[in-house]
Amino acid sequence: MVTPQELVLAALEARSFAYTPYSGYSVGAALLTKSGRVYTGCNIESAAFSPTNCAERTAVFKAVSEGEREFDAIAIIGGRAEETGRVAEFASPCGVCRQVLREFDDGGMTVILARSADDFKAYRLEELLPFSFSQENL
Ligand code: THU
Repeated sequence: MVTPQELVLAALEARSFAYTPYSGYSVGAALLTKSGRVYTGCNIESAAFSPTNCAERTAVFKAVSEGEREFDAIAIIGGRAEETGRVAEFASPCGVCRQVLREFDDGGMTVILARSADDFKAYRLEELLPFSFSQENL
């Protein structure tokens, strides 16, 4: 079983691979599948700006492209580089990433926002994206 702490640590490691020369805002994410696997992602920026991909979507796209579609939780950690190396804020997923997560949410997905492995808050995706539009609407 993967604990929330372990998931945050995986997100923190993924954050070290973030490519953020423009914003300096580095994010890591770790997505736990119902089958118990963990897919990580970091944000990847572009000089053209709009092709930038958030950490959460990198993780989701890696997982889905390898056949995974059922997820239990995602841990997210990030923020501007601090001199201490510590993460000062809770990075909250952008609207686009919330919608992408919603695509694969059966109503039970947990979103963990972390500053460290022992400082995190957990939400249901539904709380972060109420009245969402998804497959049932089509
Ligand atoms: N970013 C993420 O990776 N995840 C979020 O949920 C919010 C924003 C990235 C995108 C960009 O590289 C940087 O943070 C600043 O917006």
